[in-house]
Amino acid sequence: MPAPLPEIRTARLDVRLARPGMQAAMAKFLRDNFDGHLDRWSPPAAPGFFTESFWRERLEIAVEEFQAGRAARFVLQQGPEGGAILGTCNYTNIVRGPFLACYLGYQVARDREGGGLMAEALRATNEFMFNVMRVHRIMANYRPENARSARLAREYLFIDGAWRDHVLTALTHPSFDPSWIEPAGR
Ligand SMILES: CC(C)(COP(=O)(O)OP(=O)(O)OC[C@H]1O[C@@H](n2cnc3c(N)ncnc32)[C@H](O)[C@@H]1OP(=O)(O)O)[C@@H](O)C(=O)NCCC(=O)NCCS
Repeated sequence: MPAPLPEIRTARLDVRLARPGMQAAMAKFLRDNFDGHLDRWSPPAAPGFFTESFWRERLEIAVEEFQAGRAARFVLQQGPEGGAILGTCNYTNIVRGPFLACYLGYQVARDREGGGLMAEALRATNEFMFNVMRVHRIMANYRPENARSARLAREYLFIDGAWRDHVLTALTHPSFDPSWIEPAGR
């Protein structure tokens, strides 16, 4: 039987797994917040990124990915499932086996920044990822100049049961062509 789609009530939020039916709210969230806010820290918008039809398909995929244990994409709402979306937090690339890790990305509406909503949501969703999805490590990457993201990541990401230093080494393509990047929705 497919796993039920999580819904977590926090003090001020209804945090729900993203699902079909939310396409209008997702498209509106991005139309209202991409230019001049999310665009500074995001990959380029994919074609159709601000439309309901794009999100109808993406939300179906989001549920499939959740049920396959590959990702858990959450939306922040206040009130019913059909209502406005105030932000999203996405746990993606869940790797099982001995690594048991995933990546986290987050974004909040420009007019709700600085209100502690994302921190509140992450407390709940991180607990879900640890206790229900049973990942061991949640990782976030941010640009060093993204001070708000850095504050959140340092305060609310708990890596491997404690704060630890890591050394990440990466080999990058010496002649990578940026045109190879496929614009992707979050
Ligand atoms: C990154 C991002 C999600 C951070 O959002 P945020 O609103 O600053 O984060 P929080 O929810 O933790 O809010 C914390 C702030 O709210 C304040 N706050 C107000 N009321 C609060 C409350 N009840 N509880 C907790 N904090 C509260 C805190 O003091 C803190 O303020 P400060 O930033 O001046 O120190 C947001 O800036 C964003 O969406 N940016 C664009 C997208 C982006 O950069 N994503 C990350 C890419 S790596």
